Amino acid sequence: MSKPRILFQLTGSIACFKACALISKLVQNGYEVQTVATQGALEFIGRATLEGLTGRPVFVDIYEPNRAMDHIHLNRWADLALLCPASASTLNRLANGIGDDAVGALFLSYQLNEKPYWIAPAMNHLMYLHPATQGSIQKLQSWKVRILHPESGHQACGEEGPGRLMEPEKIFAAIEEFFAGRLRRQE
Ligand SMILES: Cc1cc2nc3c(=O)[nH]c(=O)nc-3n(C[C@H](O)[C@H](O)[C@H](O)COP(=O)(O)O)c2cc1C
Repeated sequence: MSKPRILFQLTGSIACFKACALISKLVQNGYEVQTVATQGALEFIGRATLEGLTGRPVFVDIYEPNRAMDHIHLNRWADLALLCPASASTLNRLANGIGDDAVGALFLSYQLNEKPYWIAPAMNHLMYLHPATQGSIQKLQSWKVRILHPESGHQACGEEGPGRLMEPEKIFAAIEEFFAGRLRRQE
């Protein structure tokens, strides 16, 4: 089997630094990783970090020269799409079909019935528990999106509650399990 290909999408959350550790672990374990970032994500981590970790330029701007169809073609390339960390804003945008940036446009052209799309939310507990966010999570799940549920505990804002990004080690284990299962089904 060729190396599994992960379309790793990051949004504007303090948890971007944890996502970088996960990207590094995936690459070290033989996964091909293509990153996509919102402008918000680039407030937390630099393009050089993402390119350095993956060996591939990050995709940010759907109008960037020479990348005119990447908002469609990258979906064909991917075996699994992972939105990690998923901000409240992007989670709610996706649930409403808004394709005004690379992450949103890619989601709209992703074949959810054929390939896995996973979302790992990371946000303040009030943002997470807001009815808009909870409604979006339910809607996305009804479209076959898998939610990697956040954990409860201390948050960057100094408060306690649910919304901490699932530990990168657990996300890595879920990815390994998914591809091991796919390999077994092919045998
Ligand atoms: C220091 C800081 C930390 C933030 N952390 C989060 C976060 O963990 N989760 C979240 O949903 N929003 C967080 N935000 C707010 C988002 O960055 C903001 O809603 C942004 O519009 C998200 O845009 P994007 O989803 O397009 O990247 C944070 C903002 C700042 C300034």
